[in-house]
Amino acid sequence: MKKDLLSIGDLTLAEINSIFKLTEQLKKDKKKFAKSLPGKTLALIFQKPSNRTRVSFEVGMYQLGGNSLYLSPQEINLGVRETIGDAAKTISRYVDGVVLRTFEHKNCLDMAEAATIPVINGLSDFSHPCQALADLFTIQEKLKGLNKVTLAYVGDGNNVCNSLLFAAAKTGMNISVATPKGYAPAEEVVKQAQATAEETGSQIVITEDPFSAVKSAQVVYTDVWASMGQEDEINKRKIIFRDYQINAKLLANAGQKILVMHCLPAHRSEEITDEVMDSENSIVFDQAENRMHVQKAILIKLLGDN
Ligand code: CP
Ligand code: NVA
Repeated sequence: MKKDLLSIGDLTLAEINSIFKLTEQLKKDKKKFAKSLPGKTLALIFQKPSNRTRVSFEVGMYQLGGNSLYLSPQEINLGVRETIGDAAKTISRYVDGVVLRTFEHKNCLDMAEAATIPVINGLSDFSHPCQALADLFTIQEKLKGLNKVTLAYVGDGNNVCNSLLFAAAKTGMNISVATPKGYAPAEEVVKQAQATAEETGSQIVITEDPFSAVKSAQVVYTDVWASMGQEDEINKRKIIFRDYQINAKLLANAGQKILVMHCLPAHRSEEITDEVMDSENSIVFDQAENRMHVQKAILIKLLGDN
């Protein structure tokens, strides 16, 4: 049966660990996997811009011996030229997998339901599972594990925050989320993460105080204050999020060696200062690189023959 990756909830802890194990091997020996997906094609249906997701999936697919096909918003014109279901059924006859970057998460669900091939969420307004998997892999690589690690997410309770919450809960990592009032992750997301956390021992804290969030954290993470599609809110948000910037003052409140993460693209001088982004504790580009390694593992798992 085909398997999709629309949200972290689609994966068991064992599957996440298996992806991470394969990622380590892929990083160590690129050549060994050069013929993992021969003759396979991955379609990237993107309704929003992208650097990391597009390039890492396309190059990753190429490195595994397969091809990729980028379809910009004008081409598929998702849900406008034909229904998402019809588009999904058609493309399933040509390619072996789809990465969908879209607005409403329901588009991912609709596409996955109709498609007969694996559908991977390359970012929706609700979640960004490939990002969170790469992030946790990066933390594990740097800190030799996730247990007893606390990640402080400071900023908007958005898609990236949701996926980090789900991923932390599932893997037993602790997470403290600090957002301004009205910008916390949705109650349903927190409830779901908390239910998983009860089984794994992960501690989840939702607060409005960025200083308390970073105090006992080993990793601090942020994302843009206005996500793609919310650009016209940026001036309002710059005021609301002013005290949630990752800067030297906030980090002075944390332990000496707090790692700094950002899914990128960063809006320097808004959610993060140059000083912090370019500091020696910043691992943002290792994180970006790991998108490709982790996604290659995901592609082998979902599109591979065994
Ligand atoms: N982090 C991330 O998904 O980057 P892009 O939007 O550039 O793909
Ligand atoms: N929250 C951001 C993430 C970009 C990778 C957005 O959705 O635009």
